[in-house]
Amino acid sequence: MTSSRYEIDDEIYITNLLTNEDIPSFVKYLNNPTIYTNTLKIPYPYSTNDGEDFIKFLKSESLNSTRFFTIRLQANNELIGACGLHRSVKNERRTEIGYWLGEPYWHRGLMPKVIKKVIEIGKNEWKNLVRIEAQIFHWNKASMRVVEKCGFTFEGILRKRVHKNGQDIDVHSYALILE
Ligand SMILES: CC(C)(COP(=O)(O)OP(=O)(O)OC[C@H]1O[C@@H](n2cnc3c(N)ncnc32)[C@H](O)[C@@H]1OP(=O)(O)O)[C@@H](O)C(=O)NCCC(=O)NCCS
Repeated sequence: MTSSRYEIDDEIYITNLLTNEDIPSFVKYLNNPTIYTNTLKIPYPYSTNDGEDFIKFLKSESLNSTRFFTIRLQANNELIGACGLHRSVKNERRTEIGYWLGEPYWHRGLMPKVIKKVIEIGKNEWKNLVRIEAQIFHWNKASMRVVEKCGFTFEGILRKRVHKNGQDIDVHSYALILE
């Protein structure tokens, strides 16, 4: 696959490039209990093996269903986060968005800029897309704020939608409708 690079600002860019050389960055940033607590599928502790499995999984996914972008520093190309879209083959008009950023880079307004760019790419490449959903655990106020800053609308609380670590978790459902 050819790699594409999209500029975000003076500090970061995003790209669809992801190789095994990025696994140390996954291990460095995803060994974080807050990221684990706020997401559904990221393991904790996060091992090199988890990184290898994830890269294999992504390679097995079709570009028609999954787009995954790594967030990298302009200064040295280090991977510091990720943002992806996943849509069901049964309804290509709808996609879910997921994202994480390494903790040293939080609270600087980076993720809203990344999400806006990923949505622009998704819109261009998946012409029939009309709805982007974000499903956020009820305690994750920072993530809610991020999607609000990107124009998403709160649609309601999906009670006990997710089961994780023996807990049934209420999820706040947000969506952006593409006009
Ligand atoms: C959520 C996450 C992506 C935010 O990225 P970021 O680049 O730090 O986002 P921002 O810099 O725009 O800051 C987040 C906003 O939330 C606000 N915020 C942070 N903690 C908050 C809290 N406890 N309560 C209310 N608002 C909060 C910040 O003030 C900011 O809003 P503002 O710009 O209006 O002041 C990042 O914290 C992260 O990766 N978290 C762990 C993984 C995760 O939660 N992923 C999403 C799963 S749905």
